[in-house]
Amino acid sequence: MTKILILGGSGFVGRHVCAKLANIGAYVTVPTRRRGNAQALQTLPLLDVVEADVHDPAQLKALVAGHDAVVNLVAILHGTPQAFERTHVTLMRNLIEACQSQGVKRVVHVSAMGVSEPASAAPSNYLQSKSAGDALLRASGLDWTVLRPSVIFGADDKFLNLFARLQQVAPFMPLAGAHAKFQPVWVEDVAQAVVNALQHGHTKGKVFEACGPEVYTLAQLVQLAGNASGIPGGRTVMPLPQWAGQLQAMVMEHLPGEPLMSRDNLASMRVDNVATGLPGLQALGIQASALSAIAPGYLGRHHPLRRNDDLRANTR
Ligand SMILES: NC(=O)c1ccc[n+]([C@@H]2O[C@H](COP(=O)([O-])OP(=O)(O)OC[C@H]3O[C@@H](n4cnc5c(N)ncnc54)[C@H](OP(=O)(O)O)[C@@H]3O)[C@@H](O)[C@H]2O)c1
Repeated sequence: MTKILILGGSGFVGRHVCAKLANIGAYVTVPTRRRGNAQALQTLPLLDVVEADVHDPAQLKALVAGHDAVVNLVAILHGTPQAFERTHVTLMRNLIEACQSQGVKRVVHVSAMGVSEPASAAPSNYLQSKSAGDALLRASGLDWTVLRPSVIFGADDKFLNLFARLQQVAPFMPLAGAHAKFQPVWVEDVAQAVVNALQHGHTKGKVFEACGPEVYTLAQLVQLAGNASGIPGGRTVMPLPQWAGQLQAMVMEHLPGEPLMSRDNLASMRVDNVATGLPGLQALGIQASALSAIAPGYLGRHHPLRRNDDLRANTR
């Protein structure tokens, strides 16, 4: 039976990949920095969660040993240039070395739309480091497959749910990067793409773009989230000029907790997050689902009437 190591398996995409692999009877190992981060995986059969530091080359080698394939989903959206380098480039270099030394050839890596060649041509630290990690793997001589998703949505996503929640309290939406374009892809489709890539040898040595069938600007996504959560048409979006967007992002970077937006995120949005013509999900046997068909179904739970229903149900 296939044994798969999933780095970042406790995250948004990883949870769905793990569930799909459990359904086909694969043995899965998920390293995590803290066991509590992987609580959602606890009920899955044939899955081991282990506390480990994937940045320690010796621990990474020990993790890789004995597996048939590795999936890499570890990434950060915010951080210093050094943190991006460590998470997206050094980790990839260590992973390649670990795979080579342990005789594990198969690696499926989830990268991102907007990566470029050369890496220095990308507009943000996030995209430069993702580009460099992606390029290292493609030059590694391993049996790799790279998936590059646009923004990913799903019932447990952070971005559409956040836009829906914000509109329950904000009278209007000042928005940086309002005109940036995205081709949102459903998390179930991305997870299935990972599983199909693992199962089909023809995907080795290939890059696939994971995009949904619809293109939206960021402003349209905000309005869709508002509308679906009970605010007809969504709150009025006020597109911010570049300087005001920078200022808003800088303020958000200094608020406590994970920032909603950073100047680096804004820089990433200088390139549209839409398909460029490389093979897509269809080449992986997947008919991508549309955001307009899926998202209203889960964003509706932010509607004030639905929230009251949920409260009543929880107090029974
Ligand atoms: N979500 C999107 O819209 C989107 C769009 C395009 C591309 N992607 C790519 O898809 C992949 C998966 O994204 P995701 O949204 O599932 O990410 P996520 O929810 O943030 O999960 C990433 C996982 O990586 C681990 N991790 C995070 N920072 C780490 C660090 N500094 N050191 C070690 N481990 C760390 C975490 O595991 P523990 O906490 O258990 O250690 C976490 O569960 C990433 O490569 C991302 O760039 C995502």
